[in-house]
Amino acid sequence: MDRFYVTTPIYYANDQPHVGHAYTTVAADVLARFWRSRLGAERVFFLTGTDEHGQKIADAATRAGQSPREFVDGLIPTFQSIWSALNISNDIFMRTTESEHYEFVQGYFEQLHKQDDIYRDTYEGFYCVGCEAYKTETELVDGHCPDHPNLAPERRKEENYFFRFTKYVPAVIEAIESSQLLVEPASRRNEVLARLKGEVRDISISRPGLNWGVSVPWDQDHTLYVWGEALLNYLSALSLAGKSDFWPASVQLMGKEILWFHAAIWPALLLAGNKPLPQRVFAHGWFTVDGQKMSKTVGNVIDPVQLVEQYGADATRYFLLSAVPFGTDGDIQPSRFDATYDTDLANDLGNLLQRVVTLLGRAELTVEPQGSVSCTPVVEALEALRLDEGLKAIWTIVRSANKDLETAKPWELMKQPERRDELTKVLTAAYRQLESIAAGLAPYLPETSERIVAQLQSGKAEPLFPRRASSDL
Ligand code: MSP
Repeated sequence: MDRFYVTTPIYYANDQPHVGHAYTTVAADVLARFWRSRLGAERVFFLTGTDEHGQKIADAATRAGQSPREFVDGLIPTFQSIWSALNISNDIFMRTTESEHYEFVQGYFEQLHKQDDIYRDTYEGFYCVGCEAYKTETELVDGHCPDHPNLAPERRKEENYFFRFTKYVPAVIEAIESSQLLVEPASRRNEVLARLKGEVRDISISRPGLNWGVSVPWDQDHTLYVWGEALLNYLSALSLAGKSDFWPASVQLMGKEILWFHAAIWPALLLAGNKPLPQRVFAHGWFTVDGQKMSKTVGNVIDPVQLVEQYGADATRYFLLSAVPFGTDGDIQPSRFDATYDTDLANDLGNLLQRVVTLLGRAELTVEPQGSVSCTPVVEALEALRLDEGLKAIWTIVRSANKDLETAKPWELMKQPERRDELTKVLTAAYRQLESIAAGLAPYLPETSERIVAQLQSGKAEPLFPRRASSDL
């Protein structure tokens, strides 16, 4: 691999991001940082951004008494400040309201229309504004979308333009089965394949009479369907940044609920546009909070800013990435954040560093830092997108380093000048372990990693994870 392009979904600009959005974004950030350290910053491109068109946004703007444009413009700084509080190192913040995106999308669909991949027909069925997606009757449960039970799906009969999705389905299946397009985890790949092999229909890609969106270039009375338009951001962003040679994407991350759009519809749109397919599309699971779906109605939405204020950016990144195996659903329990902070971060890691730096000082021992250190289990985990396992591997080293010190008791050795060689060996080994820990942590907890290296080199011990302000999450 000589280039790495990683993307998050572009999040709906109808509300500020919560911890679920932060999860995907932090995960992508870890991958971007990891690959920058291997390939150099100029060979990595990391996209995140916002999906700003469509009915969901237009409705939210109306509720706020604003025009859609005012509304999204007012919300974007919140997104950007949350990502900056979490130390997200995105290379672009892509907004679908950028004029370049608008023109790119029109050009792309114009081509598809010219080559007869788009036709006009009548659509009849249901539409869920929450998903911004059409629903078949079989997808509804008791007449409601299972993901948005509080919203009544709208019954629609309208003239739409359709994309010949079914024409490209065999090629998409072939790409997935031959692993030209990796869809992960495997269980979700099978779900996508089963659905592609089942009954599929062409996709409506326009709507009449919705003004907030990209208008269909050959018919001003229609607006392009927000999903079709939004997916193209992964290409339009590169074009905007003058980085088109980064396509195809190396890894596209998302939550499981939108894998179908990314592993089926998106590849079909790319094939129609004669573009290479992404190499890897990975869907992680969904967080529940103390066993419940996160929702405003339940009142259990976790605000990432509050977490950062209370615990710091690195601890927040640690909570998110260590909470569940990457790729499976899981529960995060805010009630356990304090304990995790105290045990894993302040005690296991923080005390190890403080102890070693203090002992080195007392023994008046200087260890030469190693030039380039890498932490093999982290490299393996990140190549395989097993993000939580990389962290586990680091904490295995942390705990074994602590254990080695308990066994060797350098503080005893220090009282016995004749055992100086032994002392040197023990403390040098601990120093090397910390170097490896810092290397492994660099993509995950970047500030912590730098502070470990700085303290090892300066000999000045300071708490890595200070006592927290009291918690009331
Ligand atoms: N705008 C579309 C994506 C278009 S991409 C071309 C969209 N936006 S969204 O705001 O709803 O964000 C969805 C993403 O947020 C999920 O794919 C996932 O990355 C993240 N999450 C939202 N809630 C989540 C959880 N409860 N748990 C984990 N992640 C979830 O869909």
